[in-house]
Amino acid sequence: MKKRVLLTGGAGYIGSHTAVELLDKGYNVIIYDNLSNSSKIAIERVEKITGKNIKFYKADILDTEFLKKVLIDEKIDVVIHFAALKAVGESVKNPLKYYHNNLTGTLSLLKAMEDVGCKNIIFSSSATVYGDPEVTPITEDVPKGFCTNPYGWSKSFMEQIMTDLHTANPDFKVVLLRYFNPIGAHKSGLIGEDPQGIPSNLLPYISQVAVGELEYVHIFGDDYKTHDGTGVRDYIHVVDLARGHVKAVENLEKLNGVEIINLATGKGYSVLDVIKSFEEVIGKKIPYKIEKRRAGDIDKSFADASKAKKVLGWQAQYDIKDMCEDAWRWQKMNPRGYEREEKI
Ligand code: NAD
Ligand code: WQD
Repeated sequence: MKKRVLLTGGAGYIGSHTAVELLDKGYNVIIYDNLSNSSKIAIERVEKITGKNIKFYKADILDTEFLKKVLIDEKIDVVIHFAALKAVGESVKNPLKYYHNNLTGTLSLLKAMEDVGCKNIIFSSSATVYGDPEVTPITEDVPKGFCTNPYGWSKSFMEQIMTDLHTANPDFKVVLLRYFNPIGAHKSGLIGEDPQGIPSNLLPYISQVAVGELEYVHIFGDDYKTHDGTGVRDYIHVVDLARGHVKAVENLEKLNGVEIINLATGKGYSVLDVIKSFEEVIGKKIPYKIEKRRAGDIDKSFADASKAKKVLGWQAQYDIKDMCEDAWRWQKMNPRGYEREEKI
């Protein structure tokens, strides 16, 4: 019998792509999302891509009792915990909102899981927990660092909470997947990243400049210690990332009690490299201006991705050109994302 997998935050960007990959492998997918940063249309699109139905609960992870009911009624074997607020800048302005949603929400989920005896959790962590590491590529045994914002700290604390839970209750299996910079979209162009308002991440910003919604890219600094002075990141195609989750579900039995795994390509690209790749894909120039550094940014972040290969038998398949092509297809087909498209 294929496992029954609950995706908290499964209507979101990474959750919806993971739902597609799990459904394609025959897993039973149940989505639990309050739609605070997503649209039900994403779930309908996942159903369209896969030709399968998804059981969806519009609910909040802060509701422990309802979570318990869903875990029992749906006979959940594994939870993939995507649900979180993720806007770095907003977390600086409103830390309590972020700590409440992300930390209290996770405590609520873990309590529900403990109470009903569901003991497998795969967690959406982030390279942000490394802070500003002294060495690259970053391996999983590089100690966690000093985060520059409440969002980052919430991820770091959540990792600690799950690790402590495993110590107290070794039956709990915890997989901490540290994502680097997910970009791109499903090849169908039906699902993708749909930021609210002006995007704060690089790729959605470039896409909106390319489609004419925004005027030019603001490059945050060209005096970093990198090959061209602009910030270097390890961008990973969201479909590769989604497949990493499937591998984590498949390999759960043989993983250690708490397993930390980087999901990344192992390659670093600068802001100018990404703009160049995007220009090659669309066949026209992307206007940009060099501006001052953004507070909290680091020179470079890229992973040693060999553990994922060794432990999960997973490695990224797509390159930066695929990522730009697929982001562009999604952007062209959905210039205003899900919700606003619905209203046109
Ligand atoms: P997203 O905002 O698209 O998805 C998160 C989903 O969680 C949304 O659908 C939102 O409605 C839901 N949600 C939030 N709070 C909830 C609550 N209290 N109850 C129920 N649902 C709730 O974000 P994403 O990019 O898909 O990110 C998924 C996860 O991966 C997040 O935990 C994020 O922190 C983490 N992550 C993302 C990135 C990235 O760059 N996108 C990088 C590293 C880690
Ligand atoms: C990438 C590079 C910027 C926008 C963030 C979070 C991190 C994780 C992923 C969730 C940097 C530069 C950006 C722009 C620019 N999220 N840039 N102009 O900062 O690496 O990571 O998203 O866990 O926690 O911090 O990603 O896409 O914002 O920036 O020049 O308009 O692009 O300076 O070098 P980042 P990003």
